[in-house]
Amino acid sequence: MATWSAPGKVFLFGEHAVVYGKPGIAMAIKPRVMVTVRESRYHQKPNSPYIAECFRLMDVKGSVYVRSQLPSSSGLGSSAAVTVATLCAINDEFGLEKTRAEIADLAHQVEMSAQNGRASATDTYVSAFGGMVLVRGSEKRRLLPPQNFSLVIGNTLVSHSTSEMVGKVAELRKHSPDIANPILDSIAAITMRAMYNLDNQKELGSLMNMNHALLDALGVGHPVLSKLVLAARSAGAHGAKTTGAGGGGCMYAICSKSSRNRVAGAIEGCDARAIITTIDTEGARKE
Ligand code: MEV
Repeated sequence: MATWSAPGKVFLFGEHAVVYGKPGIAMAIKPRVMVTVRESRYHQKPNSPYIAECFRLMDVKGSVYVRSQLPSSSGLGSSAAVTVATLCAINDEFGLEKTRAEIADLAHQVEMSAQNGRASATDTYVSAFGGMVLVRGSEKRRLLPPQNFSLVIGNTLVSHSTSEMVGKVAELRKHSPDIANPILDSIAAITMRAMYNLDNQKELGSLMNMNHALLDALGVGHPVLSKLVLAARSAGAHGAKTTGAGGGGCMYAICSKSSRNRVAGAIEGCDARAIITTIDTEGARKE
């Protein structure tokens, strides 16, 4: 029997722009998914298409048990975390000796087939390696020096579809390239500025606020996201923005240690769920 866990993630800057080859910054967060795999002659058919695909790809049979600290379908990378932890547990239980980089690649393949070819490698890479990652285009990823921010994540509890939101931006780009492209270029400039100011939370906060406004301009906002963002800023956050695809899902705020409970309270006061967290630097690990 082998038990492995893997963390979720937030996009700090640059979501949607990364789809067009621009830079983005993503970070692994503390909440994790734990997966136990046991070799068995009788294969128990998993409910999750991600787990089923992991067993199919690795060509093994067994039973699986999952526990998650991450809300599913909220943009916090829970499907990537389930996939990475399952592949690591299979790798361990069956002595397959895959490296972490190979697991990250296989996890991306699993997400691609479970999501009909629409998955960026960001979530699976961040979940496998942990830390803070600069993403550029679809292939290049680089670990950045980890920063110990206090993050408060606000889950709107409004369900959203990543592919629908990605399609919305593609549509705007097709019909109004003269408007959409400068917005995507500005998001890229914000991401680069953020990369050189990772140790300056006040500057990061104002860059987050600008990035949020530009995501709204691209049409991937939601009234509840805006409500939570404004509530977090009023409660003293350095900055707050949508994280991930938008149209629902989650926002996050960066705040000082002394204001994080107030910010979380303000988010909960809007009938949303708050998670106070920090960076996870470990990535996938054996439990
Ligand atoms: C979704 O978490 C982030 C997007 O940029 C899509 C992607 O990178 O695959 C909207």
